[in-house]
Parts: sequence; C-alpha cells; structure tokens
Amino acid sequence: MTETIDIIQDQTFLVDTLQGLQSNPKTLPSKYFYNQRGDQLFQQIMQLEEYYLTKAEYNIFDTQKDRILKAFSPHGETFNLVEFGAGDGYKTKVLLEYFLSQKAQFDYIPIDISQHALDGLEESMRHSLPNLSISPMQGDYFEALDQLSHSSDRRNIILFLGSNIGNFSLEQAVDFLSKVRQDIHPGDLLLIGIDLKKNPAQILAAYDDAQGVTAEFNLNLLQRINEELGGDFKVDQFRHYPFYNPVTGECKSSLMSLHDQVVHIEGHSIHFQKWETIQTEISKKYSPDEIEELAKKCGFEVSYHLEDQRGYFVDSIWSAV
Ligand code: AVI
Repeated sequence: MTETIDIIQDQTFLVDTLQGLQSNPKTLPSKYFYNQRGDQLFQQIMQLEEYYLTKAEYNIFDTQKDRILKAFSPHGETFNLVEFGAGDGYKTKVLLEYFLSQKAQFDYIPIDISQHALDGLEESMRHSLPNLSISPMQGDYFEALDQLSHSSDRRNIILFLGSNIGNFSLEQAVDFLSKVRQDIHPGDLLLIGIDLKKNPAQILAAYDDAQGVTAEFNLNLLQRINEELGGDFKVDQFRHYPFYNPVTGECKSSLMSLHDQVVHIEGHSIHFQKWETIQTEISKKYSPDEIEELAKKCGFEVSYHLEDQRGYFVDSIWSAV
C-alpha cells in the first residue's frame, strides 16, 4: 500500500514539474521544497537573524497568551484546538503549556497529510507535555474539519500559523479560507498568522539571507528533481532570485538560469534562455486593512489583531459569522 502511495506521489511530482517547466513563464510549486533536506533547511531558515517571522510569532504567543486563552474560552468552555500543518510545534507549545497551567479544558488536534510528521509531533508533545490530550488526524484539512464539525458540538478553534497563508496568491487564499469557513460553525474561531507589509529591504533580506541558506533551500528543489525524477539540472548554473513588490505585497522567489541551457527530465527537453526564471514561491504580505477585507470576503470578522512588539507580524483571531 505504502509503495502504491509512493508511486502515485512520484507521478504527481513528475506531472506538476513538467507542467510547470513547460509553462510560460516557468513555475514550480513550492510544496515540493519540503523533502528531508528541504525540511532541514527550513528549520535553519527559522533560526536566521534575517528571518524575523518565526521570532515575531513566538513573541506574540509568549507575551499575549493570556489574551489568546480569554478569546478562545472566555468562561472556561471546553474547546477543540485544531492545528493545520503543525510542523515541530515549537511555537504552539508556548500556548499549550500556558493553557494547561491555567487548567483550560481542550483537546489538541494537529492535522497533517504526513503521518510521519504527526508521529514525530505526538511523541515530542507526549514527552514535553504529558498532561496534554492530543488526538492527531492524518489527511486532508477539509475532510478532517468536516468530520470534527459533525462529531462534536464543542467550539472548534483552528490555528493556521507561520504565515503559511502567504504562500497562496490572494485568489487561492480566498478560496482556501472560504472552504475552511464552510466546514465550521458560526462562532468558531480561526487564529491566523500573517506577515505584515513593511520596509521592502527587510522583507527582501528575510528571503535572501547573508549565509545563503534560503538560496540553498530554493535550489534544493532542482536537486530533488534530479534525485527523484532523474533530471539533469546543473544546479550551479541557476541562481536564487527573490523580488519584493510593495504594491502587491508579494515576495516572489525564482531560480534564474545563468546561461542558455537544456535540461532533460524523463525524456523531455526543457530549454532555458540566459536570465530566464522559474518562479518557485510566493510569500505574500498584507496590510491591516487588507487582512480585514480578506476576513470579510471569506465569511469571518476580525475579533482581535495581536501584533508582536516590533509590529512586523500579526496573529489575527477571526470569528466565523
Ligand atoms: C513556510 N512559509 C511561510 C515560508 C515563507 O516565509 O514563505 C517559506 C520560506 N521560504 C523561504 N523562506 C521561508
């Protein structure tokens, strides 16, 4: 069974890769960054001086956890705390620890497509927070949410942290968040971590760090295509190229071809002109007004807007209307 799933996943990776590289302009989906090496590099990125996002969200949780608990459970009501794609739970632990110390009544329900990621998270939580009631769910976010909404009449509170919403275009974000809204009840909450528009130089530095970790993270995608799809990319013939547009708030990362060259993947020849790009990621930033507008468009209203001390990042608590 696992073998069948692996083959299907390989096929999807191949189809998405060829489709993206045969489009004009060329693109590759950022979800393929995260193989084993990509996960390691992303962990390193989160520790970088320039990558302020993780530290900012940690700061919000650390300094405003009491407000967050009051918003989640104003009169001590029991709730489900559902987290989309929890990763290693580093930031969430700050909240969980505090909620437990305040004797809040809740189940923590991380949802992820990867059973492997969930197993690691569960083990680490059981070790560091033995009193936590944790019920991981493997699979698609929407199916899991729908199941939860039908099986329990507790308030569902969803965590979607780390500016993961920024990796969607505005259109995709509206589509995703509207689907979330459809699967929950009025009064349920969404706590969403969003990176704010700010000095373009600072944003650009976060995606172009001095040590070159982000460049390696981006280039690793070509390496992965070589390893898993038999591609023959000469990785050193491409350069990481991030570009921030302060009007749209989109920081787009690309890989730029340094020469005219041809790459082969599974019998397909892909031609690159010198300076041609493959767009690999969008990391979108929002203004506070745009966040209000986004919430409204998707069937929510903003209840709280929690910023870090430097005003770089917001965890916005939205109520389903
Ligand atoms: C996961 N995601 C929110 C990160 C971001 O900031 O867009 C991924 C990342 N890409 C380069 N650095 C970090």
